[in-house]
Amino acid sequence: MHNVSAIIKDKLRTMPRDMQENTNIVIEPMRSESLPQVIKLWDLSFGPPYNIQSASDYAKKHLSLLLTAYDKDKVAAVAGILDFDLHFAGQWTKTGGIAGVATHPSYRRQGLTRRLLEAALKELYNNRVPLATLWPFSYRFYENFGWSVSDVQYKIEQNIASLPQTGKASNYQEIPAENHSQVHALHDAWCEKWNLSMRRAKKRWSMLLSKPGASWLLLKHQAGYMLINLRDADQGTLIIREWCYLSQEAFADGLAWLAQMDSQFKKVRFLAAETDSLFSMGIPHSPAEIIMQPGMMSRVVHPEAFAELLPKPLSGIQIMDPLGVSSSKEKGEAIGPGELVQLVSGFFKEPANKKLAHLHAIAGMSKTFSVEKY
Ligand SMILES: CC(C)(COP(=O)(O)OP(=O)(O)OC[C@H]1O[C@@H](n2cnc3c(N)ncnc32)[C@H](O)[C@@H]1OP(=O)(O)O)[C@@H](O)C(=O)NCCC(=O)NCCS
Repeated sequence: MHNVSAIIKDKLRTMPRDMQENTNIVIEPMRSESLPQVIKLWDLSFGPPYNIQSASDYAKKHLSLLLTAYDKDKVAAVAGILDFDLHFAGQWTKTGGIAGVATHPSYRRQGLTRRLLEAALKELYNNRVPLATLWPFSYRFYENFGWSVSDVQYKIEQNIASLPQTGKASNYQEIPAENHSQVHALHDAWCEKWNLSMRRAKKRWSMLLSKPGASWLLLKHQAGYMLINLRDADQGTLIIREWCYLSQEAFADGLAWLAQMDSQFKKVRFLAAETDSLFSMGIPHSPAEIIMQPGMMSRVVHPEAFAELLPKPLSGIQIMDPLGVSSSKEKGEAIGPGELVQLVSGFFKEPANKKLAHLHAIAGMSKTFSVEKY
């Protein structure tokens, strides 16, 4: 089995902190006059199409902190924090979502992202935030900094002609996308089904649904909703951006609704946390193609605040944090801050480290799944 502890131990041994640091570069919250430079850096790093107005709103209104690495007044790198509510161990708690991480190509591979992540985690630690989450461009990159993948998602693609049709399509009714507040309670209930699922705040709903060039279809059911951007359709495949079904009936009714699209599309694609709902309807003549893919990454930030969320004490462990922020002083079995999240939330069916079997899945038996992407 892939041993992240080994990666972390290796990092701690081979990479003294502050190594290769360009000491002329200082890390501080973004100065307001630097916003155009930051937007230019995001544009350069994340590629077109890029909307300047929404990037500016994002920096000013969505991020709670935008840390910047300055070379005098030049922006060399940035990393932001988004505040999220996260459902974990049967309750809502805070998490710091790391976002907008980018380094100007002239400053790459000088350790600036490492310094920014460390500063961001220190800020979260000082606020007693238990966890930090992110969606990576590379899983390995963030494993080096103590994050671990914390959920697995299923990408399901099915021929529309062979969708099971036991449900009732008319149980889904279109509502105007601007009335998205009508599905917020369903969205929250959906997040509460899982471990490590983040609630989409109202302003994030508005940002998502005002995406330039999108054409949204929002379908509401008594026990769920489907959100489709018709512009996402890809070579005859209808792509569902988000499908919340809180009952088997909501799932079956949704399949019946999708079957009505057979004159326009050949296939349908959606993401799910599980496959039981599909398989319990019997395998169709043309079975779905299902890809299992890694989801979000998580890690502990403040160990005591994290332990307070759990029903049993965290005993026998020593957290080893490659960024040094969350390392624990107690002696015990070495574990990375992301691995600890995996262990207590039962990410693996069996505990990856048998010596820590007493902590396996103590955060509850709900599957880990993150609804929100950012
Ligand atoms: C990814 C990116 C943020 C890295 O920034 P950086 O400041 O060069 O990163 P650092 O110098 O702090 O590198 C940290 C470590 O990652 C390694 N690394 C750097 N770039 C990497 C890459 N593209 N792929 C894999 N590893 C990489 C470094 O070698 C270093 O390893 P070490 O700790 O063993 O020395 C930068 O390349 C970038 O802005 N890319 C485009 C935007 C992007 O993808 N952002 C991330 C969104 S999640």
